[in-house]
Amino acid sequence: MLSTVNTRAPLRWLGKQLFNRDDPGAFFDPLLAALNPMWVRGFVPARLVEVTDEARDTRSFHLRPSPRWRGFNAGQHINVIVEADGVRHHRTFTIASTPRQWASDGTVTLTIKRLAGGRITNWMHDNLCGGEVMGVSQAFGDFNLPETDRPLLYIAGGSGITPVLSHLATLADRDVRAPVTLLYYVRSQADIIGAGVLYALAARWPALTLKIFKTEEEGEPALMNEAHLDSVTGLDARQIYLCGPKGLMTLAADVLNRAGVAESQIQTTFFSAPFAVAADTPLGGAVTFGKTDKTVESEGDAPLLEIAEAAELKPAYGCRMGICHQCSCRKNSGTVVNRLTGKASGPGEETIQLCISVPQGPVTVDL
Ligand code: FES
Repeated sequence: MLSTVNTRAPLRWLGKQLFNRDDPGAFFDPLLAALNPMWVRGFVPARLVEVTDEARDTRSFHLRPSPRWRGFNAGQHINVIVEADGVRHHRTFTIASTPRQWASDGTVTLTIKRLAGGRITNWMHDNLCGGEVMGVSQAFGDFNLPETDRPLLYIAGGSGITPVLSHLATLADRDVRAPVTLLYYVRSQADIIGAGVLYALAARWPALTLKIFKTEEEGEPALMNEAHLDSVTGLDARQIYLCGPKGLMTLAADVLNRAGVAESQIQTTFFSAPFAVAADTPLGGAVTFGKTDKTVESEGDAPLLEIAEAAELKPAYGCRMGICHQCSCRKNSGTVVNRLTGKASGPGEETIQLCISVPQGPVTVDL
């Protein structure tokens, strides 16, 4: 009898390990990784084919994801999973290449700039050179091309150009005839990301008007201003995409607003971490995690994701900046403030994103 129990216990343990997972096959990942890292199940493996220099402090990482990867639309992002110094990290990057490139040779390009204090981006620059295997998520994001051809205006700054490179090359491949203008703001010639692609597109695709403003090289400061819109014909009919650092996006939104552009014409993507919330009612409060029956006190503008992690919970997350929705969770009660919009939620039950939701008073979430 005793021997029967002993035989079944390891089987029960194995069953639990296998079936209490989204992908039971991931249980074998350590073994699979040792045999061939492209076989792991817990994420989509991608081999780094090559790393190339792109601009000052900027490199392109050319990846070939395994056949399990489902592809992407121009302008979408992926989470990259790397193991740096024994710790697994997730970071979100935008794909700079086109779906056509992926269809033809199976590769995607991430163009990444070093950041002051950017631990993982800098680690990637310093440690990856080609041949390594990393993880990638399926693509996400809604910075999409319009469904029908129409005049477009892009206003981009610095590394915010990456989704624009993918958009423009895709539009040129389709030989779109409606006018497309790019106003691109960089510090100097050495900081132009995708210069080769942009100049080649401008040379072969008549619909494109390319204007690059080098803010530290021109005779006078070339910050975005009304005069830069003078060359953009038919502004009222254009769909406008803003992508760049927050300062440029705020400035561009003001200039467009003064030029009479409707908000509904403008689409924005974020290239900076969420900013601190300014709220009339104090932020923070008692946070109750319903499933685990834990309550902790929070202060200031800490988002629920950080509060949960400090309470030793392990909620799912991806980008940590409000893009991917992987941290979505049910709020049972209480008010939270969205760190991207500054808007307060209602007091009742709803789905929220933990990474950008700051409690404003007592909150209960389904974690
Ligand atoms: S982790 Fe991506 S939206 Fe919260």
